[in-house]
Amino acid sequence: MPVPLTAVVDLDLPGPTISRHVYGHFAEHLGRCIYGGFWVGEDADVPNVRGIRTDVVEALRALHIPNLRWPGGCFADDYHWRDGIGPREQRPRMVNSHWGDVVEDNSFGTHEFMDLCELLGAEPYVSGNVGSGSVREMSEWIEYLTRADDSPMAALRRENGRDEPWKVPFWGIGNEAWGCGGNLRAEQFASLARQYSTYVREHAGNEVYRIAAGASDHDLHWTETLMRSFDPLDTSDGRAAPFQAVSLHYYTMTGPWSDKGWATDFTTDEWYVALARAAYMEELLDRHGAVMDRYDPRKRVGLVVDEWGTWWNVEKGTNPGFLYQQNTLRDALVASRHLDAFHRHADRVVMANIAQTVNVLQAMLLTDPETGALVRTPSYHVFEMNVGHHDAAALDVHLKGDVPAREVDGKRLQLFSASASTTGETALLSLSNLDADEPLTLVLDLRGREVTGHEARVLTAPELNAHNTPESPDAVAPVAFDGVRPHALGLEVELPAHSYATVRLTLA
Ligand code: AHR
Repeated sequence: MPVPLTAVVDLDLPGPTISRHVYGHFAEHLGRCIYGGFWVGEDADVPNVRGIRTDVVEALRALHIPNLRWPGGCFADDYHWRDGIGPREQRPRMVNSHWGDVVEDNSFGTHEFMDLCELLGAEPYVSGNVGSGSVREMSEWIEYLTRADDSPMAALRRENGRDEPWKVPFWGIGNEAWGCGGNLRAEQFASLARQYSTYVREHAGNEVYRIAAGASDHDLHWTETLMRSFDPLDTSDGRAAPFQAVSLHYYTMTGPWSDKGWATDFTTDEWYVALARAAYMEELLDRHGAVMDRYDPRKRVGLVVDEWGTWWNVEKGTNPGFLYQQNTLRDALVASRHLDAFHRHADRVVMANIAQTVNVLQAMLLTDPETGALVRTPSYHVFEMNVGHHDAAALDVHLKGDVPAREVDGKRLQLFSASASTTGETALLSLSNLDADEPLTLVLDLRGREVTGHEARVLTAPELNAHNTPESPDAVAPVAFDGVRPHALGLEVELPAHSYATVRLTLA
């Protein structure tokens, strides 16, 4: 009789903290993410709070979004923050040349973004303009946001109706500087990152974590050049300076950029290709992490994956510049596979931001442009099922036995992925069965602590491309999972094919 796959978890050996910030999100002035997604304006028929959609805020609050990155993306390096303050009807217009070449009226600006963050309970991550902005512009923006006294920018903020300074803990120094952020060479950008970071000042006790625009995919040279450009050990207060983190962007698609594959219309082979490309994130974290370790063995500099997720061909009939795509069970498993990788690299990966929150790329929520109806995507449910990992201590999961696998893109794709964490009183296990057709029997060998109870949920659907629509909003939604049974070693789990499950343990 074949021995079932066994996952050994030492519940009494907590590892590094999984920062809640790896569950961060990203909202760009792109398509219907800000306009129509978050922002409808105060006069809209859609229920709103000061112009921000009530249903979107309510849905996202269940995810406990820890931080929100804004205003881009590529848009950030075209954005001049002073255009987005003051009376809305007087704000200048601009062209959003990256995304649909549409005219942006700047009605959603700094105050609206900070209001959104407060409604969501999320910390703001402002992405500053290096590509077409100036050092002075960036310096004045953070002064405007965070200064308490009567400095020129604090006074301007008050004129615009906000007395108290805000807290802005995260600041991006440019975005994709190798591409839309200026087409710079790594050496050139490394010098600029040092310079711009210097002027992102800490006012009124606002501690800022500065994130230099990092590499794409496997561009290790970019990471190495940034890491070489400063001495992470040469700090005044234990923090690396002049910036504290470098970023990494990586998107999952099944074809080349010219034909990235379709969100809902895919073959079983493409199911596996997508999951193999998602698993590649693990390799990227290892490789960029190894470069960072050479310069920063004490891991003072964070790796921030501030853009990740699926990028499919846009839905037929939609604006190609708006990046609107459906989101299926496959996207959910792409998400769970990435989140496992982030959990396993908790010692270096301090933040991550899926792209993007509403109506763009691998969104949490889709809104109907005609009726305004809101739909939670399968990816949303993975984020909701994983809330228990936020700021919990990572637990290693050792797999014993034959892990089902297949060859994809000339490499071995493991068809099961798991990660775990503990808060002390509880533990949360995340289990992904990536096999399109076969269920999986798994023994959970739970050691080191007494388990007094468990509850489990599962996310799956009959079809690989199952997705949610206004007519069928819960086609893919988590349900209580009865496939978990007691076992001499702990528990035995019968994971359905193509499913994601979480098991929450109560510890004595
Ligand atoms: O998320 C969409 C775009 O992808 C971002 O604007 C850019 O940074 C990346 O290329």
